[in-house]
Amino acid sequence: MHLTHLSLTNFRAFTRLDMDIPRRNLLLVGDNAQGKTSLLEAVYYLATFTSFHATHDRQLVNFLAAREPLAVARLVADYQRGPTRHRLEVRLIQEQNGISGQGRLRKEILLDGVKRTAQDATGHFAAVIFLPHMTRIIEDSPEERRRYLNLALSQAIPGYASALQDYNQAISQRNALLKLLAERGGDPGQLTFWDEILADKGAILLRHRIFAIQELERFAARIHARLTNQQEVLQLVYQPAFDPLPQPEGQFALPLQTVVDRSGLSVEQIRRGFVERLSALHNDEIQRGVTTIGPHRDELRFLSNQIDLGDFGSRGQVRTGLLSLKLAEALWMKDRTGQWPVMLLDEILAELDDHRRTDLLAYLGECEQTMLTTTDLNLFSHDFVEHSTIWRVEQGVIETS
Ligand SMILES: Nc1ncnc2c1ncn2[C@@H]1O[C@H](COP(=O)(O)OP(=O)(O)OP(=O)(O)O)[C@@H](O)[C@H]1O
Ligand SMILES: [Mg+2]
Repeated sequence: MHLTHLSLTNFRAFTRLDMDIPRRNLLLVGDNAQGKTSLLEAVYYLATFTSFHATHDRQLVNFLAAREPLAVARLVADYQRGPTRHRLEVRLIQEQNGISGQGRLRKEILLDGVKRTAQDATGHFAAVIFLPHMTRIIEDSPEERRRYLNLALSQAIPGYASALQDYNQAISQRNALLKLLAERGGDPGQLTFWDEILADKGAILLRHRIFAIQELERFAARIHARLTNQQEVLQLVYQPAFDPLPQPEGQFALPLQTVVDRSGLSVEQIRRGFVERLSALHNDEIQRGVTTIGPHRDELRFLSNQIDLGDFGSRGQVRTGLLSLKLAEALWMKDRTGQWPVMLLDEILAELDDHRRTDLLAYLGECEQTMLTTTDLNLFSHDFVEHSTIWRVEQGVIETS
């Protein structure tokens, strides 16, 4: 798929932007703090309805506009998906509350003019974003990896985003009940209702994650071998917090390097195992006041030649691992949905050596549409620049050349 037109109103520094988007590579060039990253952020927002930067959507609304009693940030994308054209619009509507000054923010999503929920519309327009600090996915807490997985899977797998939303709601409710039971006592049997919902939704998430991680690994390993001149074998190791595979009695956690195949399990098998385990944990979890197993606690590790990259990888190894993962994500989405996601790369080239840079640009050649930002056009090969459209970004205004 590819964007044909983008229109932004009051989105960050862009008070007004209305541009036809070129079909292939688009290079956004500009000094620091001019709006390059914000533009990629806007495009990614249209794919996931969440920002990779902002902790709250309120930050996306232009500062000046937000001083008004009613401020609306508007993002509109026209895009081509297979043979059909679509229009996706997001409105972030901020109403000021006169007393506290803190406004309420409402989000409206319209796909081809029809109101949709975020869960429903996620991934109709799809994008892969790649920022230098995303090495966090490999190096930081498991939460980063779950977030990464959820954003990728929500875009490519219908039903994933809504199962996730239902699951998360059920976790909050169940945790509240666990605390209540701990404080006031009562029948642990009350938890059964939430156990069922958790297992229903959790089994769907687990099953999708099992398959998606296997498929992502297949793509990523191939790319990684090429990027490292066949020197490194990349593995993605899924460690579900509720492991649906029966564990032999008394066995400790499996070594990281063990290859475990959970792909033969059906959603129903996973669901049944999950309910049983939740039920067995009632008393323990009441004491702790939280739900201790399930997809909200899953882990994913990245191994290179059997070494855990998150713990032991060199800076360069982690960067290459991330590059493999991001390119794999795009190929996987294309494989699953039949559509290329739009590739968004923020200041990536500066981080890579010549060899990786050339490889990355070659891979991008296969994608349908790529948007890249840079402060320095010299990082790109002459050939790549020749085949790209160059826009200068200056204080929230675009200059085409
Ligand atoms: N809600 C907002 N309203 C108005 N301006 C904003 C808002 N949020 C951020 N900005 C401003 O937008 C500017 C552009 O930020 P952005 O991160 O897109 O720049 P950039 O071109 O990617 O810079 P760099 O090269 O340093 O990464 C910043 O100066 C920032 O202060
Ligand atoms: Mg930037």
